[in-house]
Amino acid sequence: MAERISRALLPDNTSVADDGMAMFGGLRVDDLVAQFGTPLFVYDEDHIRKRCQEAVKAFPDGVSYASKAFLCKAIAKLVHEEGMGLDVATIGEAYIAIQAGVPSSDLTLHGNNKSMEELRYAMDNKIGKVVIDSFDEIDKIEHLYAATQIPLKALVRVTPGVAAYTHKYVTTGEVDSKFGFTVENGQADKAIKRAESSDAINLVGLHAHIGSQIFTSDSFRKSTDILVNLAEHFGLPELCVGGGLGVPYLNDESSISISEWGAIVHEISRSSSAKLKITSEPGRSIIASAAVTIYTVGTIKEIEGVRTYVAVDGGMHDNPRPALYGSDYETFLARSINESRERKITLVGKHCESGDVLVKEGDIQDDLVVGDLLVTPVTGAYGHSMGSNYNKVLRPAVVFVQGGKSRLVLRREALSDLLNSDVT
Ligand code: LLP
Repeated sequence: MAERISRALLPDNTSVADDGMAMFGGLRVDDLVAQFGTPLFVYDEDHIRKRCQEAVKAFPDGVSYASKAFLCKAIAKLVHEEGMGLDVATIGEAYIAIQAGVPSSDLTLHGNNKSMEELRYAMDNKIGKVVIDSFDEIDKIEHLYAATQIPLKALVRVTPGVAAYTHKYVTTGEVDSKFGFTVENGQADKAIKRAESSDAINLVGLHAHIGSQIFTSDSFRKSTDILVNLAEHFGLPELCVGGGLGVPYLNDESSISISEWGAIVHEISRSSSAKLKITSEPGRSIIASAAVTIYTVGTIKEIEGVRTYVAVDGGMHDNPRPALYGSDYETFLARSINESRERKITLVGKHCESGDVLVKEGDIQDDLVVGDLLVTPVTGAYGHSMGSNYNKVLRPAVVFVQGGKSRLVLRREALSDLLNSDVT
């Protein structure tokens, strides 16, 4: 397809300069690059705030940002300012949120294999809620309680047995899952009863997360229905429906909005006679399309009749999703954002393996040359956060842009950072 990049995939505050150069948050891409270099993550701050506001409105009983999607102190502070709590899946995520000034009471600790250290940290730091994921975890909480006598406020994570029609690596709600307690075989009932009768646990509700990048409202309906029945049966007041709302990555994709997702979940819960508190924890739908990644083209290799490889200065270290899940992305030239893209390319990174692909079947403007600035949109979720130092490549910088101003929130790593944990 030769069409130009769809505006729906770009951050809200994208514009075009007179010479055709893309602008984000009122700033030209070439100016951002002159200041911060490439690869560079650029997040549109107002775009994130708007999605947070939408989520808070769609889930008035409470909504947490799933921090695994992208976490640094600036984002933790921002989502909290907008009225969201934070879902943290490890002690590391909790630590960053607390360092950012988020009250620990606004954190929810997840994890299918929380360590003693993590549970102790949750108790010592008075973390708002813990989502219980296994019988062994209940044992651990009871062991800690013997010393502290402080009960943990908790939800029990259940696995509703709903297929989520997404990549198998990111489904979590099916019976065959490492997460939570299965509803179908009675494990969920057993876990709820045990948690309810434990002095160490103050059980306030249930939790389910059926997967990520879900486009069909059907899966949300089914899982909410199962959860509502279970919560009603046990007289539990809170029901967290997790995250998982999909976002479009390609020109021809679309998905339901956060508001529509909230409406679906509330519609199902209203069918219950019990007055339930409905909460959620979106990650991707808050942050994914708020960001783009900017790269510099280093080499163009045309293999006649086979394929044109365009290699940039990033790769699977800043976006491992294509390599891990076969995820597709779009790409375009920063200097001609509005132009149609006639040329077929494969966008690759600089790592020492063939799987280091950023865009497998990409379209790009025809006049692409070495040295051009190239953009991949919708990289705000699970890009930087899942990035690595593979090949001892330095992690890119992250800037927030807003109203013609930029602020660096994560600096580009320096060579000396590579030796931070080397003790010899
Ligand atoms: N709640 C729980 C318990 C989760 O495990 C997750 C994501 C979320 C909420 C947020 O889900 P979201 O709204 O972002 O879909 N790395 C994969 C996605 C893994 C999702 C892990 N859990 C990817 O890049 O597609």
